[in-house]
Amino acid sequence: MDFQLAEEQLALIETARRFARQEIAPKAQDFDRSGEFPRDLIRRAWEIGLMNEMIPQAYGGLGLGLLESCLITEELSWGCAGMTTSIMVTNLGLMPVMVAGTEEQKRRWLTPFTMEFRIAAFCLTEPGSGSDVAGMQLQVSKHNGSYILNGTKRFITNGGVADVHTVFGTLDRTRQHRGICAFVVDAHSKGVRPGKKEDKMGQRASNTAEVVFEDCEVPADQMLGREGEGFKVAMQTLDRSRPSIAALAVGLGQRALDEAVAYSKERKQFNTPISEFEGIQFMLADMGKDLHAARLLTWHAAQLIDRGQEAGLYSSYAKCFATDAAMRATTDAVQIFGGYGYMKDYPVEKLMRDAKLMQIYEGTNQIQRVVIARRLLGR
Ligand code: CAA
Repeated sequence: MDFQLAEEQLALIETARRFARQEIAPKAQDFDRSGEFPRDLIRRAWEIGLMNEMIPQAYGGLGLGLLESCLITEELSWGCAGMTTSIMVTNLGLMPVMVAGTEEQKRRWLTPFTMEFRIAAFCLTEPGSGSDVAGMQLQVSKHNGSYILNGTKRFITNGGVADVHTVFGTLDRTRQHRGICAFVVDAHSKGVRPGKKEDKMGQRASNTAEVVFEDCEVPADQMLGREGEGFKVAMQTLDRSRPSIAALAVGLGQRALDEAVAYSKERKQFNTPISEFEGIQFMLADMGKDLHAARLLTWHAAQLIDRGQEAGLYSSYAKCFATDAAMRATTDAVQIFGGYGYMKDYPVEKLMRDAKLMQIYEGTNQIQRVVIARRLLGR
């Protein structure tokens, strides 16, 4: 086992790091306050090759692996997790096409993302169906060889700003997960409209909104997989995307650690830098060791996926562990900053708010434990 990254991977890290520090981080606080969507910044990420990096070369993309994608995500997240979520969710939105699309569907839906700046969204969650994917209600009916979608998707990252949606609905609710179908839909199609934009606690630079489908007619050649295969397409997508959330958490946690180390050396109490106190040192040590373990879990899961091996268990290990570690690291960073940490003038309260969402989206950490336990129990 070799943890040494290749020259190209180190160069990728360097590009992403420079972009995060020079262009993302200086603007993070403003976008956090305004809740505005940083379209120009995201476009810039696309221009320098830090977006959609996993689109295969056959369709005009860079064809990088999930490991490389995670390396980029970690660096960008150091600058701002909200903006990075917006950037990486286009990967998630396109993943069902990569997982289940035909050659023709891949060529039609992936290639445009390599030629011009575009955004995608993954429309799975509904008002009444979050963890329980099989309980979704978005109705799919058949009409003249097409499918008609009716229903509302909620908490959709990039909702309202995306050009393409991958969307899941049910042809027959009585069939539970076996009734679910997946589609790829142009967001500007008739019958698709953005709903309410959410006013979030953290990750405020990412757009989270409802997406409403009203008699939206989708041609049959936009179904991904066959009728009833949508649930598995969603699960296979999440297996491949959860390491990215882990990478996001590692980057954010690393920022918390870096801020806490710098502040603890500068802040004096009892005529001594607080970094000299064991109580502070133990918190820093825990952050460092947990984040390192989280990074290795992330790399391992990503590498298994890149090798085409079964990785659902390891994706859930990484997502759950890394996001819990980031939550602890950011909470401890606020503690180390003391009263200042609680104030919006300092960077760490934003990190803590941003971290919380990571324990919730792409499957709550309780759901990750369900996935893990089922695998361990052989179910
Ligand atoms: N790969 C392939 N097949 C899978 C699978 C996987 N990972 N997991 C389950 N399946 C199959 C099962 O083998 C089973 O197959 P059969 O038809 O042969 O029986 C079928 O799918 C049903 O599986 P389960 O019985 O395990 O299904 P369940 O209803 O108990 O649900 C769950 C399982 C893990 C709880 C699932 O519903 C889940 O992952 N929930 C969380 C949803 C989630 O992560 N949402 C995130 C939204 S996206 C987001 O947040 C993005 C963002 O904003 C950034």
